[in-house]
Amino acid sequence: EKGGFPHFMLKEIHEQSETIADCMRGRLVVEDNKIVLGGISAVTDRLVNARRLIIAACGTSWHAGLVGEYLIESLAKMSVEVEYASEFRYRDPLITEEDVMLVISQSGETADTLAAVREARSKGALVLGICNVVGSTIARETDAGIYTHAGPEIGVASTKAFTAQVTVLAMMAILLGQRRAKLDEKESASIIKAMSEIPAKVAEIMTKFDEVDAIARLFAYAPNFLYLGRSYNFPVALEGALKLKEISYIHAEGYPAAEMKHGPIALIDELMPVVVLAAADHTNDKMISNIEEVRARKGRVIAITTDNNQDVQRLSEFSITVPETHDLLTPLLTVIPLQILSYQIAVYRKCNVDQPRNLAKSVTVE
Ligand code: F6R
Repeated sequence: EKGGFPHFMLKEIHEQSETIADCMRGRLVVEDNKIVLGGISAVTDRLVNARRLIIAACGTSWHAGLVGEYLIESLAKMSVEVEYASEFRYRDPLITEEDVMLVISQSGETADTLAAVREARSKGALVLGICNVVGSTIARETDAGIYTHAGPEIGVASTKAFTAQVTVLAMMAILLGQRRAKLDEKESASIIKAMSEIPAKVAEIMTKFDEVDAIARLFAYAPNFLYLGRSYNFPVALEGALKLKEISYIHAEGYPAAEMKHGPIALIDELMPVVVLAAADHTNDKMISNIEEVRARKGRVIAITTDNNQDVQRLSEFSITVPETHDLLTPLLTVIPLQILSYQIAVYRKCNVDQPRNLAKSVTVE
């Protein structure tokens, strides 16, 4: 049932070009420059006119929510807040009928996320869900929602669910941008086209497996890892660090790159691998300074960058490149080498990849 792969996680990493395509099928209509999200069509007006959108989730789904915040704010100019579902509840949250809550959950059973759904509903907000498991509790208790259609995810560490969640959020952001008239036709056409090309680009990244493996072999016994990213690649840094912690038990931290000099820089020495997410975008000059700062302290820079980003490739000890895409979509590509890296490191460390210690696939206690 693992389709010839040694672990479900590896199978699920490999499936992503297909699962992203499945997630977009019938929804991303390239020839009409249109997004069709049937699951929320009855409530789209209320969503479009909402005062703000509150996204609540846990773990990897929360990271997808953070990417969604960049996407929706940028394309739809809508105010978005992202909350840990658990923390949302403890704060006697300020949420009203004018707000929309969007929860994200692969399993649809996460207790804290479910509690956030109930809290928001009791305050009169419209509550939408992005779930993978059809008919799950969260899918049933939300007012409307969009399934990710990633298929069953068995490995405890979430991979294909994450890329599908980001895909749904990107489609929502485009739809909202069009409906709120914040996105002109040319720009929406360019991002819709870029989305349609993502599955092939993900497949291309899978051909870099051996390159990532060589890095994994070298750093499999590092005690710590630092992940740095800016803007929409900041959540990817968090996600990369979480994946490594979960399955290889290596201590890893993800940081917004600019925060490095406010503390974590003290950790950098010749034993510290620093994974730097550096697409060739508006943050590039700043990421290059970060790379230079790490190098000056003899840190080991592993850059995840785009094919065209020669400067970063030249400055970094190691680099894995991903194809170029629309800037806002880079998280869908940069996360893939990080999934492979954590997987291969866990294999070298002989960890139980699909069922890491202390973790469960769905966390149904609060
Ligand atoms: C990460 C992971 C967890 C889940 C979190 C939320 O690999 O598996 O962090 O993402 O427990 O789960 P869902 O999305 O099912 O609500």
